[in-house]
Amino acid sequence: MSSKSRKKVLLMGKSGSGKTSMRSIIFRNQLAADTRRLGATIDVESSQIKFLGGLRLDLWDCGGQDSFMDSHLTSQSSTIFRSVHSLIYIFDAESPDLTSSDTHYFLKCLGALRDQNPINSDTVVESAGGADPAEGEEAEGQGPTVFILLHKMDLVPEAQQSSKLAEFEADVTKRATESGWKGNLKFYGTSIWNETLYKAWSIVIAHLMPSLSSLRSHLSHFLELSSASEVVLFERTTFLVISSVTAPSEAEDAEDWDKRRFERISTMVKAFKLGCTRIRSPFSSLTLSSPNYTAVLDTLTPETYILVLARNTIQPAAIELNIRLARPHFG
Ligand code: GTP
Repeated sequence: MSSKSRKKVLLMGKSGSGKTSMRSIIFRNQLAADTRRLGATIDVESSQIKFLGGLRLDLWDCGGQDSFMDSHLTSQSSTIFRSVHSLIYIFDAESPDLTSSDTHYFLKCLGALRDQNPINSDTVVESAGGADPAEGEEAEGQGPTVFILLHKMDLVPEAQQSSKLAEFEADVTKRATESGWKGNLKFYGTSIWNETLYKAWSIVIAHLMPSLSSLRSHLSHFLELSSASEVVLFERTTFLVISSVTAPSEAEDAEDWDKRRFERISTMVKAFKLGCTRIRSPFSSLTLSSPNYTAVLDTLTPETYILVLARNTIQPAAIELNIRLARPHFG
């Protein structure tokens, strides 16, 4: 398997910051409430996840207790940090050490990442903040990408969340730059209790995908041919958004659409699928209608689902037929 199709991703951060919780929700379909029972990760837990187009994600969940962190940064440094595609670093928004020892460890991880990937020393530090999943794609080929999640934002009063994220971003950016780090620093605010987790991870996963632009052009073509208003592609296991296209004719109306609609759909459909599994009735497809729109969610390829939203002058059966006809082109 080539290094292009195999991506090593590190999940790091202090003990209790929520790394294993995220991994369990996104990749193992666990419910947020069940993460309270998770034990501390011992050393490193690695898992392999298959995505579309033969992409394999090697996810290394690195235990965050001080003794493990110290060993990741010393004796295990080359094993952990070499050939890394992306580092996802989790900070606990409620930690009393957020701007002291937590950031100190983070800067050490950046140093180790740079030391173990000397050719690509101009590592890009990436962030979100409501951006399109496709944004991560441009960093391909520029060395490891660093995603920073300020996590457990549900514990921060809503009115303070954006200022907390902005202050944290400014502080860490300044300190990373002073430590010799290059590139922009941006951050994601996340919580397992809402769709922000899906937003951030959708961007991470889209960043890992080598052929996102060709996928987008296929989707645009499908949107046009089927006269749809919007088309969204989800990864099958995680239900993360991989790509989406909105018809130019809907641009004005789409201004009023919920900006977090894709992540909300991910969360809802995942919960619905879980319910279906519990009653041993496998989920296959879903059709919803409102006075103005019809939405059809169906399998597109063995690794993806497609959601097609169309004005309800178009019959659901026509949308279903178009999806069926499109399958060979995406397969
Ligand atoms: P180590 O394995 O020791 O490195 O810890 P970890 O980073 O993997 O932490 P873990 O995922 O085990 O989570 C610790 C606790 O944080 C659990 O009780 C989770 O339920 C809780 N937690 C995780 N994410 C969130 C979140 O977004 N909000 C809140 N309030 N709690 C969270």
